[in-house]
Amino acid sequence: MLADAMNVLDTLQRSLRNLRLSVTDRCNLRCAYCMPEEEYKWLPKRSILSFEEIARVVRVFTSLGVDKVRITGGEPLLRRELANLVRLLAANPRLADLALTTNGVLLVEQARELRDAGLKRVTVSLDTLRPETFRALARRDDLDRVLAGIQAARDAGFPGLKLDAVMIKGANDGELCDLLDYAKSVGAELRYIEYMDVGGATRWRAADVLSRAEMLERLAARFGPIEPVREISNAPAERFRLADGTVFGIIASTTAPFCSSCDRSRLTADGMWYRCLYATTGTNLRDALRSEPDDAKLAELIAGHWRARADRGAEDRLAELSRGAYAGRDELAQNPHLEMHKRGG
Ligand code: GTP
Ligand code: 5AD
Ligand code: SF4
Repeated sequence: MLADAMNVLDTLQRSLRNLRLSVTDRCNLRCAYCMPEEEYKWLPKRSILSFEEIARVVRVFTSLGVDKVRITGGEPLLRRELANLVRLLAANPRLADLALTTNGVLLVEQARELRDAGLKRVTVSLDTLRPETFRALARRDDLDRVLAGIQAARDAGFPGLKLDAVMIKGANDGELCDLLDYAKSVGAELRYIEYMDVGGATRWRAADVLSRAEMLERLAARFGPIEPVREISNAPAERFRLADGTVFGIIASTTAPFCSSCDRSRLTADGMWYRCLYATTGTNLRDALRSEPDDAKLAELIAGHWRARADRGAEDRLAELSRGAYAGRDELAQNPHLEMHKRGG
């Protein structure tokens, strides 16, 4: 019999439930809200955790209450043999949910294999349906592959397919309604995401944020009355329903952050553990994994840091008047782990 997992609480009484695992910092797109620059410094190969190391640290996390893992990147499908990691994680009996966030470009090749390996859910980032906007936003010409990837995820039989769209004024806000029509046509739940000033979003300006309030107003003008879906959850998305039953979500991280119920932390591909998306410092679990053979000691280390957690990064940002980008180029060059593509979107 498996012993009950612990319930470790931080200083704001938030549990440790949700772990985001970045498996690579590389990406095959260059989205304007995440990687707007020309050059990036990549993590050195020797520092990248092996699948065995990841599976071990996840076992330790699940003994402390984590029951939800989401594989992220960079673009996670660029990590070679990813299905082997999925297989290792899927064998962990304490994991109730094992999901993946991808840009979809490589899904045609991998969806079936990932599903067979035990992946439970997939979320695909899709910000536009127009090839020229895709080229402008992501600096690659891959919209057709992404749309085929979404179809491949459906064909592989993934339940609960979600599409994430970061909305930016003047870039893709004209497609607010079209994106919802598309999501409906492929049986997916769309989540609109407010543009955040996080990590590598060096071009972020408050004026470019399409707020939750504006989204709801524009959607109601087209689709009619919208009602909130009543539910209790720690998920960042608030869900809404149209009169015809279509459900969609909004992640209002910029104008209405969800820090007070945030149960998530993130591990980078090189084993740095961050307890907030905005945290400037993290814990090096790679060295601990490589020098400490005793899982109980690792668990103590992790639990101790979680108990001391007081982060409410997005709320702190909200309190700052006249915000600009969170980190400038120099700061990012000094501390590349601040980048969203390193700590997993
Ligand atoms: P499920 O609820 O399991 O479907 O997943 P999710 O909503 O956590 O997953 P997803 O990776 O699709 O996250 C959606 C978006 O929410 C991210 O891409 C970010 O824009 C935003 N987000 C994710 N994690 C955080 C976080 O820790 N803090 C804040 N402020 N925003 C986050
Ligand atoms: N604002 C909002 N979401 C972002 N992501 C990355 N950067 C940002 C940002 N500046 C998230 C998006 C994307 C995922 C890979 O990371 O949701 O779909
Ligand atoms: Fe959690 Fe930090 Fe995001 Fe707030 S900003 S929701 S504390 S990760």
